[in-house]
Amino acid sequence: MKAILLAGGKGTRLRPLTLHTPKPIVPVFGRAFLNYQIDLVRQVREIDEVVLSLNYQPRRIEEVFGDGRDLGIKISYVVEPSPLGTGGAIKYATGTYSDTIVVFNGDVMTQIDLGEVIRLHRERKAKATIVLTPVDNPSAYGLVESDADGNVRRFLEKPKPEEITCDTINAGVYVLEPETFDRIPRDTASSIERSFFPSLVDRNETFIAYVYRGYWIDIGTPEKYAQVHRDIMDRRFLAEPFGGSPRGTRHLGADVRVEDSAVIEGPCFIDDGTVIKAGARVLPYSVIGKNSVVEEDATIDGSIIWPNGRISRDAVVRGSMLGRHCHVGRNVVIEGGVVLGDKSAVTDFSRLKASL
Ligand code: GDD
Ligand code: MG
Repeated sequence: MKAILLAGGKGTRLRPLTLHTPKPIVPVFGRAFLNYQIDLVRQVREIDEVVLSLNYQPRRIEEVFGDGRDLGIKISYVVEPSPLGTGGAIKYATGTYSDTIVVFNGDVMTQIDLGEVIRLHRERKAKATIVLTPVDNPSAYGLVESDADGNVRRFLEKPKPEEITCDTINAGVYVLEPETFDRIPRDTASSIERSFFPSLVDRNETFIAYVYRGYWIDIGTPEKYAQVHRDIMDRRFLAEPFGGSPRGTRHLGADVRVEDSAVIEGPCFIDDGTVIKAGARVLPYSVIGKNSVVEEDATIDGSIIWPNGRISRDAVVRGSMLGRHCHVGRNVVIEGGVVLGDKSAVTDFSRLKASL
């Protein structure tokens, strides 16, 4: 069985971080995000191939995963000539497939038992099975109503506040029968959420909901991307590298150098080759990428810093995110949800605060 990961979006809500790093490979504790999905998919023995459906910066993604040999599963790539939307992308990637497929939105992190979903799909002889999850505010998602027998009754993408009738949304994980794809137009942009799923409801097809109440998050905004790090550090979501370690663990990679009198408070993650100089403080919920330098008496607090950062003396970075190769000058204060793109340089004594 093939699993198709939809990973062609531009990641606009995660800009500027996604200008040079497409969303499927933004780092989460030094690992490209899609690794977490591939880990999940690999748990289902029947799935023997992962197809990455790409459009935006495909080469960068291919460079990370190659043919999958290192991950122990075959990985192949389908690159659309132009963005075809979620429906068009599935149609384009599946070509002449006839076997049941699993589809994932390439930006969701979850611990769902995929094998169970496939079993339900088969048991109910469904044409489509969709995973639902409850959220507080469905307006940023696809609202899905289902009945007591688990049949999907309504699919409404990005509902207006007055249209919200329940709390279950599309979790972006599907099991689908390609025989139904004749209703997705070929080589034209289309949305599986706005046309294909509603059409299954309209035609009374066997369209089943699987409600999942465990961990689920879409990492598509800076707040959610930061949240997933906290959740892994808090072990609300058991995943590498905090899954097997006690609460409050400080994860220090290879060749990390911490000078005397520097303070490191867990939970936190400092990746390979990073140097924390004398008197510097790395406070809880900080994530510092490879080969960075935190200079004397600087403070990193609850922030995510991508590789090759330099935080100069006496600077403070609090509750913020910095892309690769950022240079923060002396005595700078960055706080309150600032997001800086790759190679940003902040002049000594500057003060940046997001007005969120
Ligand atoms: N190949 C390809 N081509 N992939 C695409 C394209 C495209 O044109 N457009 C989007 N994608 C991929 C994105 O990379 C992402 O992984 C996935 O499809 C979903 O797109 P998003 O842009 O992240 O959609 P969303 O988060 O607003 O809404 C979707 O996900 C929600 C759950 O997180 C919908 O499926 C909602 O119904 C759902 O609730
Ligand atoms: Mg999304």
